[in-house]
Amino acid sequence: MTGKFLGYRCSLCGTEYGPSEATYTCPKDGGNLDVVLDIESLRAKFQPSDISSRLDPSLWRYLPLLPVTEYPGDSTPLHAAGGTPVFALRRIGERLGLKQLWLKDESRNPTASFKDRASALVVARAREIEAEVIVTASTGNAGAALAGMAAAVGQKAVVLAPRTAPPAKIAQLLVFGATVLLVDGTYDDAFDLTLKAAEEFGWYCRNTGHNPFTAEGKKTAALEIWEWWQTAHKAWYQELGEGAEHPPLTVFVSVGDGNIISGLHKGFKDLLQLGWITRLPRLIGVQASGSAAIANAFHANTETITPVTAKTLADSISVDLPRDGVRAVRAARETGGTYVLVSDDEILRAVAELGLSGVFAEPAGATAHAGLLKALADGVVQRDDPILVLNTGSGLKDTHAAMRAVGNAPVVEPSIKALKEVLQK
Ligand SMILES: Cc1ncc(COP(=O)(O)O)c(C=O)c1O
Ligand SMILES: [Zn+2]
Repeated sequence: MTGKFLGYRCSLCGTEYGPSEATYTCPKDGGNLDVVLDIESLRAKFQPSDISSRLDPSLWRYLPLLPVTEYPGDSTPLHAAGGTPVFALRRIGERLGLKQLWLKDESRNPTASFKDRASALVVARAREIEAEVIVTASTGNAGAALAGMAAAVGQKAVVLAPRTAPPAKIAQLLVFGATVLLVDGTYDDAFDLTLKAAEEFGWYCRNTGHNPFTAEGKKTAALEIWEWWQTAHKAWYQELGEGAEHPPLTVFVSVGDGNIISGLHKGFKDLLQLGWITRLPRLIGVQASGSAAIANAFHANTETITPVTAKTLADSISVDLPRDGVRAVRAARETGGTYVLVSDDEILRAVAELGLSGVFAEPAGATAHAGLLKALADGVVQRDDPILVLNTGSGLKDTHAAMRAVGNAPVVEPSIKALKEVLQK
């Protein structure tokens, strides 16, 4: 096993395990396991410029900071995960009076969601431990990401998704050639069945949060944000002046199982431990009010996650029992962030507003933007705060929801008279 990958530490009881002493969650209490890296030796060996001078724009530019030795699938879609662009949301920023507003567009990943980051790492890990089959439960995106990344390197993948998943996501799974099973139940039912199947058939389980490598993949977005921020903030800080109180970067992210936000937190904590940053960006998690188990725990000031009966049109974040809830609560608490709740109507309005800035987000992706609007109205963020919103998935994943956000186009007879009439309305 690789020298930099020391093993795991339980997020609940703190017990440490060697790389082959645990695979998923803590054998003692089921807590999520954090990957432990040999930060001391990484700090001695690398400078930030050793990373930023790497020519590879994909997430594999961070290979020195990841718990795998190498990645399979050079020049394939597996190689292309990460490296997503950051855009200035100028028009929305002007409307809201925000001076510094950006969006990092994760829909530009190979299978069009943030989940490619996690699946890329899990596939790399699966190759190292010579797993024959990888299985995952998914609301759609994690499965599509696994199916796509696995197809790229000829790895077998099995995906269990709720039968209610949007058709485009199911089509993606099938096109990538995974064994696809539509569970007659919720995402949580699919999750539990996947755990049993992995045990029964000896498959390697990718389940979000359950597999410690998912958060390691997701942390690469934090590493990208760090690299981007080093140049993006320069002009801004100059304007504020030497020695001024600089507000931290605030990052808005939608939350279902809580693994994206905990992965981001892990990435920033790694950077802090390396001494490459001096403070953590503020992480604000956004949940749909119909699927708010983590936000509820955060606001009740507890780490006990009480399941809900999830109901939201943002299918990717519709989760009864979040599988990375404790770390997700801490991600906001330990960074000075918070949790914000938004309604389905607010999510649809955010889909429409992002569209007017040239960004096509699925409901769960636009949830982060809806959360920004809410946080601004509630005074949680200030107009001087530099803000980065993550769009975690493409609007093409769920065109039904997109149409609900914007309504149908009028039909016109093919004559200029009819066209004029319609345009005048
Ligand atoms: C588009 C999108 N956004 C947000 C999330 C939430 O991520 P997590 O479940 O890790 O909180 C998901 C998860 O499936 C997703 O697909
Ligand atoms: Zn434990």
